[in-house]
Amino acid sequence: MKLLIIGASGVLGSRLYNDTIKKKWSVMGTYCSRECDGLFYLDVRDKNSIEKVFDLFKPEAVVMAGGITDVDLCMLKPKLAQDVNIKGTINLVKKIKEYGSKLIYISTDYIFDGKTGPYKEDDKPNPINTYGRTKLEAENIIRAKLKDYLIVRTCQLYGVAERSFAPNSNFALKIIHNMQNGKKVYAANDLYSTPTYSGLLSDILIKLIEKNAEGIYHGAGAEFLNRYDYVNKIADIFGLDKALILRVKLKDLKLKAKRPKKCGLKTDKIKKEKIIELYDCYIGLALLKTDILG
Ligand SMILES: NC(=O)c1ccc[n+]([C@@H]2O[C@H](COP(=O)([O-])OP(=O)(O)OC[C@H]3O[C@@H](n4cnc5c(N)ncnc54)[C@H](OP(=O)(O)O)[C@@H]3O)[C@@H](O)[C@H]2O)c1
Repeated sequence: MKLLIIGASGVLGSRLYNDTIKKKWSVMGTYCSRECDGLFYLDVRDKNSIEKVFDLFKPEAVVMAGGITDVDLCMLKPKLAQDVNIKGTINLVKKIKEYGSKLIYISTDYIFDGKTGPYKEDDKPNPINTYGRTKLEAENIIRAKLKDYLIVRTCQLYGVAERSFAPNSNFALKIIHNMQNGKKVYAANDLYSTPTYSGLLSDILIKLIEKNAEGIYHGAGAEFLNRYDYVNKIADIFGLDKALILRVKLKDLKLKAKRPKKCGLKTDKIKKEKIIELYDCYIGLALLKTDILG
């Protein structure tokens, strides 16, 4: 299997890159702005860079784990979000058709409105922010233009970007970093999700690719919980002072972009097809601790 991973400098992409290299797959990974050893430059807005990578590697399958993933940034810079997440997908889809590769696109629970989560694969999308809208539009382009595609939606990723570690790169790392430095953290008890360890999602993707799965799957952690409970679990696993955790409501956080309140993903399809045994936050966070501390 010749697998191209776009966004291999990110949290999910770097994990999948390392895991597939360990499995001795033939893998090429790309970065966009954070140059990393062993990775190739590819910006989905730049057709030449896509062309170069495809010409060099001729991938059989492409995992699209790249893009603008910061929900507030998407709201503040909607043109950037559209250029990368939508136009970039159009550029990529064209090249994929030309090379006859399979596309594995990573999407999000933020395509839903968060009124009745967690959601299953065929629930009706209704995004409430720019990030969700651009991801849904990318999904729709892929479904309209390609026959051989796999869309895997995930939720609230936690993990370490193994090639470019930054303590702020996801919610869990931010919480750990702030609490370790004695800072108070605010956790909304009305914001629900199914947090997903990057290693779990990487394992799900590997299994789905191995069985040549098609269509839409939800790949997420086994636990549906609110941010306040999630932060308490982070504190348990990392031995942090729970007095620093302040229980608030989503509206008190005054976030720039709207968040779907009761979101998260149902994973019955993965369970029914026995793709992989899913696990909860305690197990995922313990694995994260090992990733960080060794
Ligand atoms: N994070 C979450 O909680 C979450 C939840 C649901 C779904 N997802 C989806 O899961 C996927 C992976 O998320 P993640 O958290 O691992 O992402 P991440 O850590 O933010 O990494 C994003 C990756 O995209 C690359 N990238 C940015 N702009 C690009 C461009 N113009 N062209 C090509 N690559 C570009 C980045 O490269 P550089 O850093 O080198 O610029 C980086 O490798 C994304 O599709 C995201 O929408 C994430």
